[in-house]
Amino acid sequence: MSIPGVATVEAVVEAGGAGTARVMARVEERMVELVSSHGDPLARHGGETITAGGKRLRPLLVCIAAGVPVAESDTLVRAAVAVELVHAATLVHDDVLDGANLRRGRPTVVAAGGRLMAVATGDLLFSRAFAELAAGGEIGPIRALSVAASALAAGELMQRADRWNLTVDQDRYLERCRLKTGVLFRAACELGALAGGAPTGALGSFGESIGVAFQLLDDVLDVTGPVERTGKPRGTDLLDGTVTLPLIEACRRDPGLALLDLRALADPRRAASVCDQIEATGALDHARDHALALVADAKAALPGWLPDAQRGALELVADGVVERYS
Ligand code: IPE
Ligand code: IPE
Ligand code: MG
Ligand code: MG
Repeated sequence: MSIPGVATVEAVVEAGGAGTARVMARVEERMVELVSSHGDPLARHGGETITAGGKRLRPLLVCIAAGVPVAESDTLVRAAVAVELVHAATLVHDDVLDGANLRRGRPTVVAAGGRLMAVATGDLLFSRAFAELAAGGEIGPIRALSVAASALAAGELMQRADRWNLTVDQDRYLERCRLKTGVLFRAACELGALAGGAPTGALGSFGESIGVAFQLLDDVLDVTGPVERTGKPRGTDLLDGTVTLPLIEACRRDPGLALLDLRALADPRRAASVCDQIEATGALDHARDHALALVADAKAALPGWLPDAQRGALELVADGVVERYS
């Protein structure tokens, strides 16, 4: 399976200058080191989660938010490691909640080791993230990342609470995306800003907006597929009862769809046909347009004091969020 977004990730690494690849390589080494000191089976599952890859978008954002050219430092490596570990922890727990079997083309921890193992592995990754920041001795990054970790939990709970419910509205859905995804992108930018000695507000807002757009487009991709690209069948969210903007908007446009009983879907072929119905309403364009507007506004709102090279690199990240799905 090709990994969408890799070309952009490479472009951002290049835009960040020679220090970026060095920091990112140290981030990989450090993450493996941190999880591997925790004995089998936790270290095995934690280690496999890390070495299975991923785009590393959030640590890259930490680097770019700290300043361009990226200057290698222990503080920056620690911040990037911590943000990616929280992301990894969340995915391990998310796969428990979603009952997902595949992640990054490999069996999920819950599929390979069961529910208890996945909960414990996620907990280990969370705890290593905060221990890494604590080793740096600064309270600001710990505070920013803990806000994100709580928001992630609240977002996942909100998604559970709204399961199967077709009356959820767009605003509530967007708040879920903010909590689930936007706030961790915000934290990535804030930790970068703190490492670079810059104010956190504007960069944090930029992160949050592109994070929400990222989740919106991920949810569109769940409807469009194809499976070679996503590694999972179309309509996985539908089958799981996760109501996202494409379906919310499609129900508004096609009242017949609003009568759908998601619990009765139960079969991927029916889910794929609901995906076709959603597509036919034009709801996917609505969701895409919303994401594109968020990204455009985020770019336009980048503060005037940012040096050109850093602004350019941040814009590349924002474009990458969009390109990943186009
Ligand atoms: C997946 O995030 C979860 C969402 C927020 C949609 P990524 O797409 O960044 O996951 P990896 O780390 O690259 O696998
Ligand atoms: C992303 O949500 C997980 C979190 C941000 C907590 P999804 O459930 O949409 O992510 P995928 O599709 O499993 O990667
Ligand atoms: Mg999921
Ligand atoms: Mg998804």
